[in-house]
Amino acid sequence: MDHPVSKRLGPAVAVVALLVLACGGNGATTAPASIAVTPTQGASTAPVTTPTPAPVATPSPEAACPADATQIEVQSWWTTGGEATGLQKLFDAFNAANPGLCAYNAAIAGGAGSRAQAIIKARVLGGAPPDSFQVHMGHELLDTYVNLPGGSLLDPLPTSVIDPSQFPAGVVKIISGTDGKVYTVPMNIHRANEMWFNKTVFSSNSLTAPTTWDDFFTTADALKAKGITALALGDNGIWAFGMVFEDVLIAKLGADGFSKLWTDPTAWSDPKVADALTTLQKVYGYVNADHNALSWDQANQLVIDGKAAMTLMGDWANGDYVAKNFTGYGWAPAPGSAQPQGTIYQALADSFPLPSLAPDKDATTKLLTFMATAQGQDIFNPYKGSIPANVTAGHPPANQQQYNDYQKSALADWTNSATVVIPSMEHGAAASPAFKSAIEAALTAFEGGTSIADTQTALVSAAQAALAP
Ligand code: GAL
Repeated sequence: MDHPVSKRLGPAVAVVALLVLACGGNGATTAPASIAVTPTQGASTAPVTTPTPAPVATPSPEAACPADATQIEVQSWWTTGGEATGLQKLFDAFNAANPGLCAYNAAIAGGAGSRAQAIIKARVLGGAPPDSFQVHMGHELLDTYVNLPGGSLLDPLPTSVIDPSQFPAGVVKIISGTDGKVYTVPMNIHRANEMWFNKTVFSSNSLTAPTTWDDFFTTADALKAKGITALALGDNGIWAFGMVFEDVLIAKLGADGFSKLWTDPTAWSDPKVADALTTLQKVYGYVNADHNALSWDQANQLVIDGKAAMTLMGDWANGDYVAKNFTGYGWAPAPGSAQPQGTIYQALADSFPLPSLAPDKDATTKLLTFMATAQGQDIFNPYKGSIPANVTAGHPPANQQQYNDYQKSALADWTNSATVVIPSMEHGAAASPAFKSAIEAALTAFEGGTSIADTQTALVSAAQAALAP
């Protein structure tokens, strides 16, 4: 695959401009990262069902590793097909190359870390961290673990572990503390603002991917008239609904307006935010009735089965299709992503740090060093659905899983100088965990019937509290 480093300068510049802006506003906060995962009963226009609690999948080290091996506990929330497989393939390669060491995935189910994040945080703050853990670049990493009044709970990573020159400058900026040191290894770049659709459902109804929200409603009406669910939604964790909200905000506010939301509380008073909430409410008329009982991958299954035409989800959905051997899907940026300044790429990265109190720092350092390499990233990402964060990656050997057509297109977009990169709120880059939690609380109430005006007021208050100097 063509993956020249020089072409990365374009989006890297955009990342610097926008992600740094997003990180600069509210500094460190130690507020707890409580995550709203239980949807409020009584969605405005869709019937309500009781959410199914996600099972906890925490493999015991005994089950995953030989008894005499030194175990490296890596806590993630990856339990579904492509995600768990990608991490396991990475660990298999590392463990095979390091006899006596055994990295394993101590996974806690719940999309977007809706359960795992609080558990991991309690362990790290309580002085009993896993050897490493999944954390998003940006505010989630820096506000929770690094830029703390009492100092970082993570060790800075030397260039022998991660060479910053192999990562986009904007990414390096938001994995670095206020001391300028790098604190985590980004494994990937995910795109959040993506629409996925069942090609057969579209072609048999003479439809194409909507590019604006007006188009979306025209398309959705055509599907509804045929009795087909237009949009699959699985928001048993409110974050999935939050992602749809972000898609609509991007469409209504554009990149600059969206980025101001994370630094300027007055931005939330904009009538365009009310307009976004109006659109969001309308979307409810087109989603599956059991949306708040389903996980993101169960919603994706509705698309695979042709029971729904589209879903709005990050490109871990691509990894889900790969894992399920489903090839009948198409993709397009979420409606409204094509803006006058360029097409928007809403980015996030999964990363893995070294806790200062990690039980086995030497073994974990070896693992993190491997995770930062092009070799490690090219083992993991083809399964995960994402593109590598390391700019020298992108060329898996012929005997390994290859990047698929979606990933080739994502890489082309990411490296296109006309692309505008903005950070994801729901996946830790744009806002502090406390700010995200307050937004999710407002959205949960909105799902429960709170008016547009009251929801906007709650969002303004959330921003004022989070962004207070
Ligand atoms: C995101 C994470 C992705 C994927 C997704 C669904 O927060 O960055 O890698 O796991 O949640 O769980």
